[in-house]
Amino acid sequence: MLTFSPTDRIFILTGAGVSAESGIPTFRGVGGLWRNYRIEDVASPEAWHRDPQLVWEFYSMRRRVASEAKSNPAHFALAKLEDALQDRLFLCTQNVANLHEQAGSRNVVHMHGDLFKSRCDTCSRPPFDDMNLYEPPAEIPQCECGGRIRPHICWFGEVPFELDRIYRALDECTIFMAVGTSGVIQPAASFVAQVADHARTIYVGPQKPANASSFTECYMGKAGEVLPDLFSSF
Ligand code: APR
Repeated sequence: MLTFSPTDRIFILTGAGVSAESGIPTFRGVGGLWRNYRIEDVASPEAWHRDPQLVWEFYSMRRRVASEAKSNPAHFALAKLEDALQDRLFLCTQNVANLHEQAGSRNVVHMHGDLFKSRCDTCSRPPFDDMNLYEPPAEIPQCECGGRIRPHICWFGEVPFELDRIYRALDECTIFMAVGTSGVIQPAASFVAQVADHARTIYVGPQKPANASSFTECYMGKAGEVLPDLFSSF
């Protein structure tokens, strides 16, 4: 069980592992490939220019899987923690589904975008809610400007969302906890090094991440089992 002082500010970074127990496959674990494509091959501006239909098939599959998934005890433990800590908790996720919100979290920063939003690849029309599946024979939807509608996702080679807010919260935090992320994708993989001089650093997951040496504490196990125990005092 963790205890915090009343002045602690907690930054929590979640990755695909926090939703593994909800049935959403991680990217780099067993079952992480989609039709023999690595995520890097279908989640990039190059992939979009080469074969937008394939990219939409991939995100349609992810929309289908995510819309059937339910939050697990890890998501609920984090929502309860927000109730207790209010704005002293900063929850930043690399995940694009909405399982944190489904569990009751109200302030979630989705640095890699939102699976249930789309936007135009050409004009500045704001992103909009979109639950549709665009699989053959469906055409790729078009914007009024003539551009193509793409997923509102940060692809490889693009800049993650809300980085200013994220770096401010990293500067201010006294405890940094990463949950279920392999520690290989930048910039999230470097957050722990960024806070090393002013925050306690904790990792939760069944395997050591690539950046394990930067953490001072590791709790090895599934997020859905470890987090409710760690936060049982809230
Ligand atoms: N509880 C906690 N962690 C788990 C669980 C579990 N039940 N099951 C697996 N994990 C861990 C794995 O050990 C692994 O370290 O989750 C991690 C998942 O790693 P990745 O698949 O690499 O996912 P992530 O780190 O979130 O990927 C980052 O890469 O492909 C991009 O944009 C995509 O947001 C994604 C980013």
